[in-house]
Amino acid sequence: MKTIFSGIQPSGTLTLGNYLGAIRQFVQLQNDNNCFFCIVDQHAITVPQDPKQLKQNIKSLAALYIASGIDPDKATLFIQSEVPAHSELGWMLQSLTYMGELERMTQFKDKSEGRSAVSSALFTYPTLMAADILLYQSHLVPVGDDQTQHLELTRNVAERFNNRFGNTFVIPEISIPNVGARIMSLQEPTKKMSKSDENTKGFISMLDTPKQMEKKIKSAVTDSDGIVKFDTENKPGVSNLLSIYASCTGESIGAVEAHFRNKRYGDLKSEVAEAVINTLAPIQEKYEALISSTELDEILTKGAEKAKQAANRTLQKAKKKMGLLR
Ligand code: AMP
Ligand code: TRP
Repeated sequence: MKTIFSGIQPSGTLTLGNYLGAIRQFVQLQNDNNCFFCIVDQHAITVPQDPKQLKQNIKSLAALYIASGIDPDKATLFIQSEVPAHSELGWMLQSLTYMGELERMTQFKDKSEGRSAVSSALFTYPTLMAADILLYQSHLVPVGDDQTQHLELTRNVAERFNNRFGNTFVIPEISIPNVGARIMSLQEPTKKMSKSDENTKGFISMLDTPKQMEKKIKSAVTDSDGIVKFDTENKPGVSNLLSIYASCTGESIGAVEAHFRNKRYGDLKSEVAEAVINTLAPIQEKYEALISSTELDEILTKGAEKAKQAANRTLQKAKKKMGLLR
């Protein structure tokens, strides 16, 4: 049995990309592993958040995790800021992370580019992420492929700590899904589908109505040659739709390409819309029941207790090794 950790930021309603790239893997993994799934609210505040909205997003994310199939009896679901060990270890690891390493992070470059007020927390974000993972002695971290660089940094910092202070942390592996690792924007298919995209037509929210989903997929950017083929370089829009279809139906890209051969873009879009709606509709139904129940609070309180126990064990060990404490 492996220990697994992953986190999602409560920075907006989850997208189809989050679901296909992350949550769906979590649901599979929880059966045979010791899983920790975290609502990383301290990561979310590295860019400005409206407090009321943030509170709502945290709750909504918790409900979406469970509605998507995370079972609180199998996995530990909790809020990052309710387990202080994360920020404590995060600080300790900052002392082992170099400026040069953080400066190379493409997520930091993307999020800071062209902005005047960039917080120092946005810069040190990857170190907090390393703490999240290392606190639970995680073997495996399931994420979308945009997180590869952060995982590499986590491994480097963990190895550095182990070399300098003696064996303390398990070195985690990354796990990326074969299909669905990178769902692209419907409007700019060379960019990742993101919940913080200003153009809401670019992403499908997990809580969009079926009508909204259909409309967004029908107006997805394709190309003008009219041939349905998987070619991410020359046909990013069509390839993205094929990936979404494959990922929702569980078919291979090859099988999906064959299915749509000689069909028109209009047919492709209709079938993709249908597949997406069929995937998300049952989740939305469960979400509605959960969001107005008290069950959610109980689950999160229990989750935080369990997470604290595991995290504090590692934190104490790391503090001792570094010469902190009496
Ligand atoms: P975030 O929305 O940045 O908090 O991401 C949460 C998780 O969803 C991470 O594991 C991401 O890699 C994954 N993810 C986010 N957007 C996408 C996307 N467009 N395609 C696939 N995975 C994604
Ligand atoms: N950085 C991740 C993202 O933007 C979210 C995250 C924070 C995370 N801590 C984590 C993911 C730990 C996996 C493990 O998607």
